[in-house]
Amino acid sequence: MQEGLEGIVAARTRLSHVDGEGGRLIIAGYAVEDLAPAASFEDVAYLLLNGRLPDPPEGKEFAATLAERRALPSVARAVIDEAAAAKAPPMDALRMVTPLLSLGRQENPADDAMTAIAAFPAIVGTYWRVRNGQPPVPIRRDLSHAAHYLHQVFGDEPSAERARALETYLNTVCDHGLNASTFAARVIVSTRSDVISAITGAVGALKGPLHGGAPGPALDMVFEVSTPERAEMVIRAKLDRGERLMGFGHRVYKVRDPRADVLARAAQRFYATDGDRSLYALARKVETVALQQLRERKPERRIETNVEFYTALLLHGLGLPTDLFTPTFAVGRVLGWSAHCLEQLREGRLIRPQSAYIGPADLHFHPTSAAG
Ligand code: SDX
Repeated sequence: MQEGLEGIVAARTRLSHVDGEGGRLIIAGYAVEDLAPAASFEDVAYLLLNGRLPDPPEGKEFAATLAERRALPSVARAVIDEAAAAKAPPMDALRMVTPLLSLGRQENPADDAMTAIAAFPAIVGTYWRVRNGQPPVPIRRDLSHAAHYLHQVFGDEPSAERARALETYLNTVCDHGLNASTFAARVIVSTRSDVISAITGAVGALKGPLHGGAPGPALDMVFEVSTPERAEMVIRAKLDRGERLMGFGHRVYKVRDPRADVLARAAQRFYATDGDRSLYALARKVETVALQQLRERKPERRIETNVEFYTALLLHGLGLPTDLFTPTFAVGRVLGWSAHCLEQLREGRLIRPQSAYIGPADLHFHPTSAAG
């Protein structure tokens, strides 16, 4: 038996290939380092949903179709207000609002997928603004998907450079084999349930700190270190307490996550001013010390930097608060969840692994007097 299904192939896919030994990520045929910094999120979405990149007219039409679906169902605002009043974590708010995307629409897998991909920026942006006492931002259809998300959060139109940096991030994290949240989505649609139910389940899985919940704590660790001289002491103390260093280690990658370098390069452009440059240099020092100490303590495990460490630096550089790091991950990954759902519905069987029963098997039932 493989605890946590480690190393078990549970599905065949054309969507992405994670080469853990070689440290490579292929997204529908393209190396992530080639595709992510250069393609639009809309073209990557078309690629994952249709199996090839669009030609310019197809790309234009697809982007317009996606933009048409950005608005939320009217009932969403009531749920957002309640969640904001309760100060719910943004990932909880996303999980509460996602199911509402079924309202007023006929269930249709491809249509559900487009609706979810299109709506996530407004769900996250609206919730964050309402929770902080700011009015939601009216939806604009003339902005790119990445620019639309930043517009929904901050209320102003982002510079082309900031929109490009976020687009690189969304493309980098859009799909990644059978990670826990994608696997959750595939299990749900493998019963022939609907795509919105599957995406709701995937949101729940992504929230966990062992999966999508890592970038916030990873940045917190950099701030806790605060100066290069403190790196050794702070990281040693964490490991001595048995804590895991967020942003390091991976179930599949046994070498550096190729996405870390894609995001490190994108982040570097945001740390141009002196003040910020010291934060970027500090983060590189924290990474070096963390890797050294992990190698010392777990020589038998190859624990390397994963995508979340530089996710934290890039999203912080874009001005996003740490509370929005995981929801921003979801804005990108909802594309992969959707594409895997459609692939599972086309080609997959019910996903139903075995379990090893380790409890007693020979108890005799005697009704007690208490049972009447
Ligand atoms: C993502 O699957 C995906 O593709 C996920 C993802 C995606 O795109 O969807 O790539 C995104 O989830 C990246 C991972 C983000 N999570 C973190 O950064 C959290 C910190 N990392 C770890 O918790 C851990 O590395 C996991 C959960 C990511 C993977 O762990 P495994 O493969 O299940 O290994 P394990 O938990 O069994 O740990 C093995 C040993 C343990 O020590 P022992 O109990 O054997 O003594 O390694 C240690 C762990 O304590 N270890 C760490 C560590 N990671 C593993 N110790 C300290 N710090 C760490 N980061």
